[in-house]
Amino acid sequence: MRIVLLGSPGSGKGTQACKIITKYNIPHISTGDIFRDNIKRQTEIGIEAKKFIDKGLLVPDELTLQIVEDRFDQPDCAAGFLLDGFPRTLVQAEALEKEMISTGKKLDAVVNLEVNDDTIIRRMTGRRVCSKCGATYNLMYNKPIVDETCDKCGGSLYVRDDDKIETVTNRLKVYKTETQPLIDFYRDRGILITVNGEQDAEVVFQNISKALEQF
Ligand code: AP5
Ligand code: MG
Repeated sequence: MRIVLLGSPGSGKGTQACKIITKYNIPHISTGDIFRDNIKRQTEIGIEAKKFIDKGLLVPDELTLQIVEDRFDQPDCAAGFLLDGFPRTLVQAEALEKEMISTGKKLDAVVNLEVNDDTIIRRMTGRRVCSKCGATYNLMYNKPIVDETCDKCGGSLYVRDDDKIETVTNRLKVYKTETQPLIDFYRDRGILITVNGEQDAEVVFQNISKALEQF
């Protein structure tokens, strides 16, 4: 399976990605996670990407395409993948299409999670992420058993730097201008699945699974 997850910041891409990759046994490629890992290790890519991420802007296409191409070169991508947060611009979508054509592969489906802006803001201000294993929690919808501690590995939970309200507002604006046009791009190619992302995460996952089975 080759799947793309589309949706505004905080729409639940990461949450659904964890469930989908387990079901289909495919690697999870999140460009946001790759950038955050580079920032943590203070690599050249991380230092450059941080300048944009902290302002709620997209990292330039050239740098983003470089990290995705490197990831595609890993052997675990040969049989499929789940892309989370990539592509995010038409330039990136066209580059991905070229890559698929040149390697004789094709995308199976693009899942678009629909969530309104008020819900997004509530979700992102309540988000907590494990500093050790990356698991995501939410103080309103999905609380850890022990405050500020990961249920899975005991790591401490932190607030993402780009979850501050000013940055979230900017990320939503950028999503509308840069990323929303991809909905039509993939609808035209007949591979778009739209799912109501406002429901309970497990219900969202069941709806995604049903739609993928019909594809
Ligand atoms: P990235 O890390 O991709 O961030 P994002 O798209 O803004 O999305 P998030 O990770 O914030 O949200 P999500 O949709 O994964 O939701 P989650 O499951 O966590 O990118 C970060 C930055 O990197 C970008 O702003 C950009 O600068 C840069 N970047 C990345 N990719 C790029 C690219 N291709 N090109 C250029 N730049 C790029 O859920 C959110 C919260 O809601 C959680 O607390 C969760 O527990 C909760 N939740 C989830 N689902 C539900 C539900 N159904 N009900 C209730 N709560 C829920
Ligand atoms: Mg995410």
